Amino acid sequence: MKKVEAIIRPFKLDDVKIALVNAGIVGMTVSEVRGFGRQKGQTERYRGSEYTVEFLQKLKIEIVVEDPQVDMVIKKLIAAARTGEIGDGKIFVSPVDQIIRIRTGESDIEAI
Ligand SMILES: Nc1ncnc2c1ncn2[C@@H]1O[C@H](COP(=O)(O)OP(=O)(O)OP(=O)(O)O)[C@@H](O)[C@H]1O
Ligand SMILES: [Mg+2]
Repeated sequence: MKKVEAIIRPFKLDDVKIALVNAGIVGMTVSEVRGFGRQKGQTERYRGSEYTVEFLQKLKIEIVVEDPQVDMVIKKLIAAARTGEIGDGKIFVSPVDQIIRIRTGESDIEAI
């Protein structure tokens, strides 16, 4: 089991949600986050001081899936979230040790 964490542009949320639900994803978590990447939050290359760092509003989407679904989820995320401009975001994949559905006590793949 893996957690796919994607930092995306907020206006891309609907496209990403529709793409993932159509691909059979049954659960996801969305949070409002702020962050910066390698341009340090500068939206124009030479704007402001070269030392200023700005946090930009982004959304974080978390999806936990079975290992065989990871590549498909990444492809769908890229297709839905990409504009081709700097700041499109990033995808992080990490292992998940255990999942428990609180209502039933089911665990792991059954609990996804
Ligand atoms: N190394 C990182 N660790 C944690 N979060 C990151 C990292 N890089 C980017 N992020 C998050 O992703 C958001 C978008 O990053 P961004 O797309 O600007 O990455 P980038 O590496 O600068 O790529 P690009 O050159 O396409 O802009 C950031 O605002 C931040 O929230
Ligand atoms: Mg960037």
